[in-house]
Amino acid sequence: MRRRTTPEAFDPTAVRPWSARLPGLAYGGDYNPEQWPQATRLEDVELMRKAGVNFVSVAIFGWATIEPREGELDWAWLDETMDRLHDAGIQVALATATASPPPWLTRKHPEILPRLADETVLHQGGRQAYSVTHPVHREYALRMAARMAERYGEHPALALWHVDNEIGCHVPRDYSDTAAGAFRDWLRARYGTLDALNAAWGTAFWSQRYGSFDDVLPPLVAPTYANPTQQLDFDRFSSDSLLDYYRDLRDLLRELTPHVPTTTNLMVSSATKGMDYFSWAPELDVVANDHYTAAENPDRHVELAFSADMTRGVAGGDPWILMEHSTSAVNWQPRNHTKTPGEMLRNSLAHVARGADAVMFFQWRQSAAGAEKYHSAMVPHAGQDTDVWRRTVELGRALEALAEVRGSRVEARAAICFDYPAWWGAELDSHPTQALRYPDEVLAWYRALWDAGVTVDVVRPGADLSGYRLVIAPTLYLVTDADAANLAAAADAGATVVVTYFSGIVDEHDHVRLGGYPGAFRELLGVRTEEFYTLQVDETVRVSGGPLDASSADLWTEKTHVSPGTEVVASYDDGQLAGLPAVTRRPTTAGGSAWYVATRLDGAGTAALARTVAGAAQVLPAEAAADGVETVRRWSADGRTAWLFAINHTADDAKVATSGVELLAGGDVDGTLVVPAGTVRVVREAH
Ligand code: GLA
Repeated sequence: MRRRTTPEAFDPTAVRPWSARLPGLAYGGDYNPEQWPQATRLEDVELMRKAGVNFVSVAIFGWATIEPREGELDWAWLDETMDRLHDAGIQVALATATASPPPWLTRKHPEILPRLADETVLHQGGRQAYSVTHPVHREYALRMAARMAERYGEHPALALWHVDNEIGCHVPRDYSDTAAGAFRDWLRARYGTLDALNAAWGTAFWSQRYGSFDDVLPPLVAPTYANPTQQLDFDRFSSDSLLDYYRDLRDLLRELTPHVPTTTNLMVSSATKGMDYFSWAPELDVVANDHYTAAENPDRHVELAFSADMTRGVAGGDPWILMEHSTSAVNWQPRNHTKTPGEMLRNSLAHVARGADAVMFFQWRQSAAGAEKYHSAMVPHAGQDTDVWRRTVELGRALEALAEVRGSRVEARAAICFDYPAWWGAELDSHPTQALRYPDEVLAWYRALWDAGVTVDVVRPGADLSGYRLVIAPTLYLVTDADAANLAAAADAGATVVVTYFSGIVDEHDHVRLGGYPGAFRELLGVRTEEFYTLQVDETVRVSGGPLDASSADLWTEKTHVSPGTEVVASYDDGQLAGLPAVTRRPTTAGGSAWYVATRLDGAGTAALARTVAGAAQVLPAEAAADGVETVRRWSADGRTAWLFAINHTADDAKVATSGVELLAGGDVDGTLVVPAGTVRVVREAH
């Protein structure tokens, strides 16, 4: 195996940027050579060069191949792989190989297996069958990671440590006895005393008062609703304990290879609820994300843009790595979708437009065996004479042409607030309605701004909001005093702040803020709701006023009173609350305003209101374009160069006003850019 021979240009004690040895954007995918014979492995590298691949994730599921029996190590395949990749100029995100314990480990130590809330044991035979809190598993995982670091820490192909894989993907909540013990320790640290725990959990209710920490359990299957604060704290604990597992492996890698950056692949999207990624991000040297579109969603490109904008929010605005997506169909949805011509290129470049400096796939070569053999890859079963391969090569060329955008940043004047504890809280059982899905509420507002061409940062409500003219907080059910004050401060500093129904209802312990809803935002919004009026399936009401003209609303209405100084923008036309306020606006200082939307408007109503508040906040689209044409800019650090990405999701050619140099098809643009149907153009603009 090759050791580094040339002197390092980097300070060996500082963490090296993950992309330091790459010429531009990174391109590649998960590479699993252990599934293939030698001849195929040789062809792999040849094909990678043909496609322009320069970055791959290796050994994610390598543990059982490296160590088929305890202590018996076979490194030959991985040594060869690392050397061969290096010789081809391909950099490696090397995994800790811990994503799934080998069969001998779970047989020897069945106590490391995780459990569901009904105490069903999750056995080996699939993947990720381990409890992140179990000390025995931790010891074995650390030992494996240390071996990888000792063997490859100085290898010239190594660019980044990839810790485990999608931590918490299959087992976001573990109810095993070990997890229960760790939960109790976590609660002791959080509350200090039993009295504080009892107060926070409201245990005077239903005879739940605890006399000892030892009596506390995770929220196991129970005759009826488990204590809501217990559920919420178990969510917090679970996210923290998954992060703690990452942190332990990361700390070890830092100690052994201080110059190598570390990450793990997150799953930021509207579908992954288990982990509070805003609290994870500070522990990663670079944020990496995996994203898959949902076949049944005709607007999947909008959800993709949301995920990308939120990944950037999680990364604090820094460029990030798209660690996985799919070239075409996946294998794990009820009916999988084969991507249409141009869809994979649009998907990939939409991530780049929104801040990704790397485009990677699961996986390089489509498996011939195993549970993921019908999941698309860069090299499909049918080989090179295929749409998928030609598109893989085409994407490689496109990314080469976009090398200069690396490191540039997206600038947004509008923000949407997203908060994991608010998500966990909003979807607890025993609520006014079970039909509310928090990410759908957020996505509805995101969609309205996407349609209006407005670039949005998706940030936590406690983020620095000072740069935003427009801040929208959809259904922020649970909010801390500090976060509520942060939103109020933005409105008082001149921003337009929009809060929607079922927000500010409870504090961090899920205790109702008394005196009328929306408790934490009553003063900011100048409203007081006395009672919720949730609607039945198919029940709607009409709302008129301001930009709304008999707009339809469903799911939720409220009996809301306005304070003096608060204007009623729109009211209910019919239903039990006919004539009462549905949308209100209170002017704040410095020209700002605070809007309350007390119901769930349909798409057209949300779009109309979003355009009104964007107009009030003077937030403009990146560049005006026809419906279904996405425009977004990345900016150089000095603000003198911008790259305008125009992504045409429609079947018609589109025009966008811009001038500069077009990088994908090539050529100068003078005033009007034509974006052919279904494709992407990127213009370098001088500002
Ligand atoms: C996840 C995993 C990969 C693979 C893909 C399939 O993202 O990290 O190993 O299973 O899903 O979509």
